[in-house]
Amino acid sequence: MTDVIISRDDILKWDMAETAKGGPFQEILDVDIFVNCIYLSSPIAHFVTAAQIRAAGENRRLRVVVDVSCDTTNPHNPIPIYSINTTFSNPTVPVDVGEGNPSLSVISIDHLPTLLPREASEQFSLDLLPSLLEFPNRANARVWLEAEKLFREKLAEAVKAEGL
Ligand SMILES: NC(=O)c1ccc[n+]([C@@H]2O[C@H](COP(=O)([O-])OP(=O)(O)OC[C@H]3O[C@@H](n4cnc5c(N)ncnc54)[C@H](O)[C@@H]3O)[C@@H](O)[C@H]2O)c1
Repeated sequence: MTDVIISRDDILKWDMAETAKGGPFQEILDVDIFVNCIYLSSPIAHFVTAAQIRAAGENRRLRVVVDVSCDTTNPHNPIPIYSINTTFSNPTVPVDVGEGNPSLSVISIDHLPTLLPREASEQFSLDLLPSLLEFPNRANARVWLEAEKLFREKLAEAVKAEGL
């Protein structure tokens, strides 16, 4: 087995600004590995599509998609090129890329933190503890104020939707 060293310069990091122009994005087909870890909160244009992949034919560089977000069953899934979640024992699902085209695999494991349970628990605790300690003074704590605001908004939506 050959070691592969990936330097920081080999990694393209995108966030909201880069996707603001709206997909699908040719840039995704032009990298070896695409890791999607967005938090999908509203409908957005697809990042990559099955038709785009087939149309790229042999010129596609992309070989692996790691879909951390795993919005697999979400109707607004920005990566609608596969339809199942994979597992640690069977981690990849092939994409239908069209006859004669290079293969493309998706990793869509929706319980990745369980691979490193201790590290995941420690990290979640580190992130959560400061907010828990703020709870007694929640009237002045941004996290708790925003959480209550969101709770009341969603409650109002539910009341309206159910006609209560
Ligand atoms: N597969 C797993 O085991 C696993 C584990 C943890 C989290 N998740 C999922 O991963 C996702 C991200 O979680 P998180 O805690 O890192 O969320 P987060 O909110 O901390 O980070 C999400 C990032 O996505 C960016 N983003 C959102 N919409 C975007 C868009 N349209 N274009 C570009 N960037 C966009 C945001 O700016 C932010 O930087 C969530 O869907 C979460 O459920 C999956």
